[in-house]
Order: sequence, then structure tokens, then C-alpha cells
Amino acid sequence: MQQDESAPSGERRCFLNKAAMTCGLTVSYGTLTALAGRFLYPARLGEKTWVYVCDADSMKSGDALAFKTPAGVTINVTRQDENGSASDFLALSSTCPHLGCQVHWESHNDRFFCPCHNGVFTSEGKGISGPPGDAAQWLPRYPLRIEKGLLFMEVEVGGVM
Ligand code: FES
Repeated sequence: MQQDESAPSGERRCFLNKAAMTCGLTVSYGTLTALAGRFLYPARLGEKTWVYVCDADSMKSGDALAFKTPAGVTINVTRQDENGSASDFLALSSTCPHLGCQVHWESHNDRFFCPCHNGVFTSEGKGISGPPGDAAQWLPRYPLRIEKGLLFMEVEVGGVM
């Protein structure tokens, strides 16, 4: 009987098995440790962080963008002036305070509109018509800052502020 020369010898096969087992255990324990860390030290409720939104000059007065935070919250960022400061911008929640539908910016009407019950908000987020107007509700506002020409927004790590 002829021996296959391409097959690993018994000693080499044993080494490869041990190496594969060591790699497998390392990956498994690493994953387990990472999961245990997230379980033991979850993001604290209310913990905030600054996230990059865009290059400030990429938006002109009247422009709007729907920004999605790392937690999946959509925030409408509008530029309302061009003085070169963070106060040119406004970041408002896209979630209607009435029943949670998504509002959108209408630049031609200079307002936010909620299609669910015809809710209307000013460009500053004040409810002026429909159920949000009747209840004097506002769209929640998010802090902004500009650093070296880049626009940043403060958001909660785990979700809505
Ligand atoms: S959910 Fe927006 S007006 Fe009702």
C-alpha cells in the first residue's frame, strides 16, 4: 500500500488540530467576554455623546437633511441662516409629539409637516396647527456645535433625548 504524501503526518495533524482548537477557543472566549461586558456595563440611560453630522458648508440656508443617529433616531437638521455658527442650524426630532408619526421639512412653506393628522410646526419646532398646535407641543431640539467647519450634534447613546 502506498502512503499519500500530501496528507499531513500524524504529528503535524495533531499540531494543526491543537492550533485550530486554540484559535476556536480564543474567538469563543473573546466573544463571550465582549457579550458579558455589554451585559455588565450597558450604556447608561441618559448617556450622551457628540456625533458628526456633516460638513457645515455642505448645507445652504433653507436646506434640510434627515440625520439618523447611531441609535436609529431620525433628526431633521435644517440650516436657517449663513452666519458661520452653529446657531445657523436647527436639529429637531422627526417624531411628532402627538402620536409619533414622522414629520418632514417643507422648505417652500418654511414649516415641518406631520401627514398623520395635518400637524404643522414652525421652523423652530413649535406646533401651530392640528393636534400639536392645539396641545402647544414642540418638536424636541438637539444641541449642535461646529468644530473646524464640521457640524456635530449631541444625542443620547441609547436612543431618544
Ligand atoms: S401624529 Fe403628528 S399630528 Fe398626529
